[in-house]
Amino acid sequence: MSTNNRIALSSDHAAIPLRQAIAAHIAAKGFEVVDIGPTTSESTHYPKHGAAAAKLVAAGDCRLGIILCGTGQGIMMAANKVKGIRCGVCSDTFSARMIRQHNDANMLSLGARVVGEGLALEIVDAFLSAEFEGGRHATRVEMISALEG
Ligand code: RB5
Repeated sequence: MSTNNRIALSSDHAAIPLRQAIAAHIAAKGFEVVDIGPTTSESTHYPKHGAAAAKLVAAGDCRLGIILCGTGQGIMMAANKVKGIRCGVCSDTFSARMIRQHNDANMLSLGARVVGEGLALEIVDAFLSAEFEGGRHATRVEMISALEG
């Protein structure tokens, strides 16, 4: 595993309690959490929070990122606009493991209005404990990167 153990965390207003629960959960497991907020429940715009976390990952400041909004969908779409980001929304542990193993996803998105805290923490664990398998999957991930131009 890379020596960079930093995980970028961000959300919009719809997911602050779940984001904070994830921050505490992964910090207790030894990850260095880079939680860039927001900290108040005031209504905000998910694209800027998704992009901010994505830029930390794309720049290599953080190895992986976890982002949240109400559904996980909007913030995922924003993160995937940042070059080098492969982010998937997951509501199950199988998908969370597979997006690391097969797609080399570097960001996970969760919907705080979709999954409860217990399941969300298991999804996070599945994502963070899986590694990219390379091989035939590397060719396909390279094809995704080539689409970025
Ligand atoms: C905010 O109400 C909501 O639209 C946002 O959290 C997210 O679900 C968008 O994809």
